[in-house]
Amino acid sequence: MKNKIVAGNWKMNKTFSEADDLLFTLAENLKDVRLETEVIVCPPALYLEMAVDASEESNFYVGAQNVAYAEKGAYTGEISAEMLRSADIQFCIVGHSERRTYFHETDADLAKKVDLLLKNEIVPIFCCGERKEERENGTYFQVIKSQLENALFHLTKEEFDGTIIAYEPVWAIGTGLTATPAQAQEVHAFIRKLVEEKYGTETAYNTYILYGGSCNAKNALDLFTCNDIDGGLIGGASLVAEDFMAIINAAETAISND
Ligand code: PGA
Repeated sequence: MKNKIVAGNWKMNKTFSEADDLLFTLAENLKDVRLETEVIVCPPALYLEMAVDASEESNFYVGAQNVAYAEKGAYTGEISAEMLRSADIQFCIVGHSERRTYFHETDADLAKKVDLLLKNEIVPIFCCGERKEERENGTYFQVIKSQLENALFHLTKEEFDGTIIAYEPVWAIGTGLTATPAQAQEVHAFIRKLVEEKYGTETAYNTYILYGGSCNAKNALDLFTCNDIDGGLIGGASLVAEDFMAIINAAETAISND
């Protein structure tokens, strides 16, 4: 039996006091429960310290949503992996499609980010996924393969062991259009096969591959029950404590049904 991971990506949402409320509620809800699921909360950078404080009294980890591709210095507005590490951040999302699209992040940038995170002992949550037209014209396997090969598969086996992959079809993000469990499973199995070819069977089995894209309290169990889906990266539904908790519970149910 393998455990699940449920990570919440708050994106650019919540004021200071709203963030405080949500973190407090999550901390309370997760405090005294024994979970098989690993919960990660990724708030905006401004609230990372607050999240770490809340997590210390509870049962979840804290992740950042982004990191600089450079080590340190004159990069106004950026936050380095070393800075995240010094604030006790243990995870960081890399290569989210919103960053690839709006901030023009390239595979080469992402490879540097992954390297700096690993150097600072932070687990990258590496996002990959195809756009709508790539799904429709049938090139999605190639797109995902090249994203992984260009930004992740340069790692040694030991380095790769410290990473998490999230499959996030761009057409499903924030659209309410979830991939069906069959569509998601097909890509997850494909990703695991690529990992197996590169790093071997054991690493492939041990790699966590999360699904992201309009995953919610209603569809989470069906997705998490699929063989190769090891949990979820949750956007919109992570902004409401009840919904996020329901998704965590779905992960628990999927583990116990396994
Ligand atoms: P969504 O976002 O759950 O709001 O679709 C997922 C993500 O972008 O990580």
